[in-house]
Amino acid sequence: MTMRTNNCRFCESDIVEAVNFGKMPIANAFLKKEEIKNETFFELATCYCPQCFLFQLIEQPNPESLFHENYAFFANTSNYMQKHFSELSNKLIENFDLKKNDLTIEIGNNDGGMVKYLKDKGFNHLGIDPSKNVSDAAKSKGVNILNNFFNFELSKKIKNLYGKAKIILSANTLAHIPDINSVFQGIENLLEDDGIYITEDPYQVDLFNKTSYDQIYDEHVFIFSLNSMNNICKKYNFEIFDVEHLETAGGSMRYYICKIGKRKISSNVNKYFDLEKKINFLQNSTYIDFKNKCEQSKNNFVNLLEKLSKNNIIASYGATSKSTTIFNYCQIDTKLIKYITDTTSTKINKFSPGMHIPIYDYKFFNDNLPDYCFLGAWNHSDEIFKKEKNNFSVNGKWITHVPEARVI
Ligand code: TYD
Repeated sequence: MTMRTNNCRFCESDIVEAVNFGKMPIANAFLKKEEIKNETFFELATCYCPQCFLFQLIEQPNPESLFHENYAFFANTSNYMQKHFSELSNKLIENFDLKKNDLTIEIGNNDGGMVKYLKDKGFNHLGIDPSKNVSDAAKSKGVNILNNFFNFELSKKIKNLYGKAKIILSANTLAHIPDINSVFQGIENLLEDDGIYITEDPYQVDLFNKTSYDQIYDEHVFIFSLNSMNNICKKYNFEIFDVEHLETAGGSMRYYICKIGKRKISSNVNKYFDLEKKINFLQNSTYIDFKNKCEQSKNNFVNLLEKLSKNNIIASYGATSKSTTIFNYCQIDTKLIKYITDTTSTKINKFSPGMHIPIYDYKFFNDNLPDYCFLGAWNHSDEIFKKEKNNFSVNGKWITHVPEARVI
């Protein structure tokens, strides 16, 4: 089941189609052999709203088919993300004078998230996640959890049970929830008057600048810019009082949001408004340019793989959602990439969505080092290069497609 829209999911204006990536499987639906015949597909096409400038998917599989008891992504597979959340917990305590009794809520805390670090320091917290397996993993670490989809209805229950929150966080979550109005209504309902909502998600400017079109897949129903986020905030009497550009997810933006007039607005906010204005971010030509760059990227990447695979074995490092978009859009199968290696137990010995490339564990990679390796998890490349520096030669062996297809 999928949901298609002809109107902006936020403001209901008519949308304008941008890039269409064609028939796509569910990005994180890694398959057992016997599941291949029942695989489902949808049309991965993007659009933007000329009124509020929200960049979004036209069609999205139902959230229930994406976030469930077999959700494939466990955040603890990345040391970098663990450090990221640990640092954020310290920042919240120091910069916002968080007290132990203040309630902090994390929407989409996966197998621990930032609230796990608040829990370790004895702070009042609540994690909310719709996927049962990752919620159970968080629970086993002692994190207070509600295993549910966050929306306005749930916010009423939370308010009755726990009271209002001083801080609400969502990291790589807001972009996943199609009913964005219900999320903001819920946050408005739950946040203390001087509370703050922090959200970090892939940043549209990075996506367009790097042609990292692989950030576009079923779970990312929205890719936000400062302009679109600002338009959403205004409707709920919120304002963005600070922004922080992050390296996570290949380039993200962290937005600090409060009720209008409650905090001093940082000069960072205007800096990024100016940047978006300077690159003509709200013009139709920007979207046409992005479409052309995606097609160019696809052609160059396929040509490179075809050339290298003539005399070499190529593997892929990290069975990511992102690589589902790349492999299906570029029609890359085992003729070009022999196998994918990944450390996540729920992905190992399965097949990649759509193109059915086998996924093997790290031991297999070690025992069968390829000639070249595509960085499917390119957003973790620093961590991967460090890990592999004495194993898989770092220079001249890795293939990337961002910002252009090349060997590094
Ligand atoms: P992620 O960054 O979440 O990408 P996406 O959101 O596109 O799915 O996933 C990274 C994947 O890479 C995850 O499956 C774990 C894997 N991985 C490894 O196998 N080894 C590593 O050293 C790292 C850092 C990640």
